[in-house]
Amino acid sequence: MNIGIFDSGIGGMTLLHQALVLMPQENFIFYADTDHVPYGTKSREQVASYVDEVIRFMIAHNCKAVVIACNTATAVAADQMRSKYGDLPIIGIEPAVKPAVVESDGKRVMVIATPLTVHEKRLQKLLERVDDEHLVDLLELPGLVEFAERGEFVSERVTAYLKERFAGYALDQYGELVLGCTHFNYFKDTFQSLLPQGIHMIDGSLGTVRQLMRVLESKGALAQSAADGSAGGQVRYFVSGREICDTEGLEKIRKLHERLERMSVIQ
Ligand code: DGL
Repeated sequence: MNIGIFDSGIGGMTLLHQALVLMPQENFIFYADTDHVPYGTKSREQVASYVDEVIRFMIAHNCKAVVIACNTATAVAADQMRSKYGDLPIIGIEPAVKPAVVESDGKRVMVIATPLTVHEKRLQKLLERVDDEHLVDLLELPGLVEFAERGEFVSERVTAYLKERFAGYALDQYGELVLGCTHFNYFKDTFQSLLPQGIHMIDGSLGTVRQLMRVLESKGALAQSAADGSAGGQVRYFVSGREICDTEGLEKIRKLHERLERMSVIQ
């Protein structure tokens, strides 16, 4: 059986990348819903219906669990999908605000995310629980999703956009930057060059993969180790339901993994 991982676009590969490292014995279906990207500037009803469609696709493709590798889709639809699909484990990434507040050691925390994530009740409720001292600021960066989907990760335009969005914040007062959208991991080198030294970047992908492993383990549904002869580490990639099989498309994916590998060492 497979594990389904999906996002509105290439952002979710952050999570896939992590899962391939920690769960090499598993096989994956990765689904980028690029016909509908971006999710973060759409209505919650629209996003919930896209998510529903993807989950049905995953069920039809023999998935034993589905990971919502999109903070926006989790905020809008995770609870709804869990009640709708009952037994199917649905694990959703969320902005890593709690560990950021703990690790910031009294300094401010900036959460960057899509407009929909920022305005959803789920994040507001999380802040009520963990941000007693009102240290957290929320900043919408929808432009980065568009840059990422165009494959424009390092450019003068990206730098100018971020400079403009960060203007007005006393950045030296921040200890943590929470990457609250999976597309943002592709820009860690630019964040590093723009932010004062000492700001640590954190995102929810590691915690989400660990949660996936716990859930599968509790159900006795983790794949057996490759030593037992079972195949693992296979990934099929889909773009809004259409499988990517051509050399050019697969080469693009290889390059994205390569970039994510380089970004993963930037903290
Ligand atoms: N990558 C998604 C997230 O984590 C959303 C990007 C978008 O489609 O707006 O929030």
